[in-house]
Amino acid sequence: DWTMRAFREEEIAKIRQQVGKGKVICGLSGGVDSAVAAVLIHEAIGDQLTCVFVDHGLLRLDEAKTVVDLFRHHYNIPLVHVDASKQFLGELEGVTDPEVKRKTIGRLFIEVFEQEAKKIGGADFLAQGTLYPDVIESVSFTGGPSVTIKSHHNVGGLPERMNMKLVEPLRELFKDEVRKLGRELGLPEIFVGRHPFPGPGLAIRCPGDITRDKLDILRKADAVYIDQIRKHGLYDEIWQAFAVLLPVKTVGVMGDGRTYDYVVGLRAVTSTDGMTADFYQFDMKFLGETATRIINEVKGVNRVVYDVTSKPPGTIEWE
Ligand code: XMP
Repeated sequence: DWTMRAFREEEIAKIRQQVGKGKVICGLSGGVDSAVAAVLIHEAIGDQLTCVFVDHGLLRLDEAKTVVDLFRHHYNIPLVHVDASKQFLGELEGVTDPEVKRKTIGRLFIEVFEQEAKKIGGADFLAQGTLYPDVIESVSFTGGPSVTIKSHHNVGGLPERMNMKLVEPLRELFKDEVRKLGRELGLPEIFVGRHPFPGPGLAIRCPGDITRDKLDILRKADAVYIDQIRKHGLYDEIWQAFAVLLPVKTVGVMGDGRTYDYVVGLRAVTSTDGMTADFYQFDMKFLGETATRIINEVKGVNRVVYDVTSKPPGTIEWE
């Protein structure tokens, strides 16, 4: 793609100019954006870049392995894998407000990055895969009064005080352009085509308070749902699909016993940029089969519902 080849060259020059001889830390989230940003920056400045993948305990099933494999084995880009789940889940204990969740996660991400920066003798820059829609949606609702809907920064709301300057080479791009750039940079199709995944991870898919037990249930339900979508060949038709664990228990019956377990909400939308979205029209047979599989395969769930809200008025994520 000609435009992306030109963009790649231009951005590489800009990154070199901005960074000079400085050191850059790049946070990887498991999503396409941060991966593309990291590969681009690595091309520009080589080992002045250190990639940090923070396992905050809020990742999907097998996410850490996928990301570590891509960077260490496919690209040979050095990657620091930090297990910070104790710290994140500890500080999130009892936190139920979505914005407080984002701010807490954002602050902890920066703490981890600064700690890793220290280990390499200091870093001057922090790189992120921020896209144009992230910039818009974090700042204000277009056209209306300045209201923050969600503090969407790529790491989930950055703190005011930060020692590192930001490097955000994708700030002018939309998702489809980032995917083109990713292909241009040789990212494997399976990675480029992945659905978006938010920096705050499963924290914002677990409304109410977050516990390890709930996260385990959510991870399993989500994996069954995505497996179903892939098996039916629907993955690429959908912009984003995921499960949400509702903070509600309901009564059910299984065999000849009573159950009292959680409700899983399923979400799937089509979209071109994430700013507006339509709920995806699965056929009922698919939904029924998926519900049955989740309830049979995931202990702790006895009811499944499908979200038929578009954006607006809903947002894609539930928090
Ligand atoms: P919403 O829920 O605002 O989501 O309709 C639009 C797109 O943005 C993603 N999203 C986030 N990404 N940090 C991120 O990096 C965040 O805090 C965040 N919140 C939402 C969401 O997954 C969807 O693709």
